[in-house]
Amino acid sequence: MAFYFKEPAHTFGEYLLVPGYSSDKCIPANVSLKTPLVRFRKGEEPAITLNIPMVSAIMQSVSDDNMAIALAKEGGVSFIYGSQTVEQEAAMVSRVKHYKSGFVSSDSNIKPTTTLGEILELRDKTNHSTMAVTEDGTPTGKLLGIVTSRDYRVTRMSMDTQAKEFMTPFEKLVYAGVNTTLSEANDIIWDNKLNMLPLIDKDQRLRYMVFRKDYTDNKENTLELTDSDKRYLVGAGINTRDYAERVPALLKAGADVLCIDSSEGFSEWQRITLKYIHENFPEAKVGAGNVVDADGFRFLADAGADFVKVGIGGGSICITRETKGIGRGQATAVIDVCKARDEYYEETGVYVPVCSDGGIVHDYHMTLALAMGADFLMLGRYFSRFDESPTNKIKLNGTYYKEYWGEGSNRARNWQRYDLGGDKKLSFEEGVDSYVPYAGSLKDNVGVTLAKMRSTMCNCGALNLKELRDKAKLTLVSSTSIVEGGSHDVILHEKFGGRN
Ligand code: IMP
Repeated sequence: MAFYFKEPAHTFGEYLLVPGYSSDKCIPANVSLKTPLVRFRKGEEPAITLNIPMVSAIMQSVSDDNMAIALAKEGGVSFIYGSQTVEQEAAMVSRVKHYKSGFVSSDSNIKPTTTLGEILELRDKTNHSTMAVTEDGTPTGKLLGIVTSRDYRVTRMSMDTQAKEFMTPFEKLVYAGVNTTLSEANDIIWDNKLNMLPLIDKDQRLRYMVFRKDYTDNKENTLELTDSDKRYLVGAGINTRDYAERVPALLKAGADVLCIDSSEGFSEWQRITLKYIHENFPEAKVGAGNVVDADGFRFLADAGADFVKVGIGGGSICITRETKGIGRGQATAVIDVCKARDEYYEETGVYVPVCSDGGIVHDYHMTLALAMGADFLMLGRYFSRFDESPTNKIKLNGTYYKEYWGEGSNRARNWQRYDLGGDKKLSFEEGVDSYVPYAGSLKDNVGVTLAKMRSTMCNCGALNLKELRDKAKLTLVSSTSIVEGGSHDVILHEKFGGRN
């Protein structure tokens, strides 16, 4: 006879935290959000610790090198998507590892013949108004000038006007050599009242741009996550098919941590992949998943996973539960797996961190997942809304959206993620192609989310994530108390066009 779980499976939205005693030490400034990323033995330190409990999802529409840099600056890690060629993925990893904080490789490049119309299109797409004009239009071509929004008047000029007619030409630019340090560059920026300083090599080829605003940003990134050489930490997704080729290339490119990306992780394919990696690259760190119960956790922990990812069917773009009838409410899955993690730690002295993956809708869901025991969270929809995600920003009916699609959608065609040893094709979809409301910069949004998290933790009397887990008091809520939780029985000012 089939096994029946006694309790129904719940989602985050069905729970609330009940506050505990807050001492006068419980202020947000005292809260630490540090958390282990990979397994460690009792009494030892994990090889990698995150400064904030957030990682970005292994998805085409979320995690590229740009996202990885932005998130590492805030203290988390991105897992670069694996549904691209080995070379492309390794190149993204390598770009993160070679990124020099404050030194930007130009991503908005134009030729002297680029028209004003094309420039405006590029500006809308990238959100960058400063563009380097290079001889061949590449990021490292010979620098011929710069175009900023101060160089043209959209209302007075023809859209066919070419950049060479209105750019600030090279002769009039202040620039510096490629070996200039960040602090020297900033002195030049201040002395000359510049917004951006181009750094060029001896052949006048553009190498980097240093922006005035980045200097302030970099000074503010107190939680940034770097390795011993001060390079940003980056993760990368792998699959259970081409690991013998992909893993060496990613490690060579500098990936700090890998993760097997699969919709269902309780499988022999994952065990074989983990075995290959541990035998061939004993120093490599690799997470596995996804599972939703204690049996799945134990299987992957025994197989050597450095962390275990939890979640099937809860992702915002996911239709796995509807399509295949498998999955489990995310909150119940996290609670169950975290209990198994703690038992495993008791028994073996090995702590295998748990990642709650998917299904986070509101910021407070993150705090709930952490209170339920998750060590960190993997987020797709959340990060896809930001400037730094790789997808297009689109205006629909006057509102901006970003594109966001699942790895199991026809658009991504990531058959390896759903592979059970069959054909190299997706015979049915497990994800959708969608839009999400555009939300601005990662830095601003993560800042607000973490402020809420720290505040709730203080309400629970917790100054770190372990204390949150130990002290949290959680209650299931009835459907009527969910209504009570929003504003109710009042007429909002917005209805009448806002406050007078
Ligand atoms: P979100 O944060 O709720 O948007 O969920 C993101 C997570 O959904 C990812 O980290 C994956 O585990 C999962 N996911 C990504 N693509 C698909 C898909 O096409 N179908 C099902 N799940 C997906």
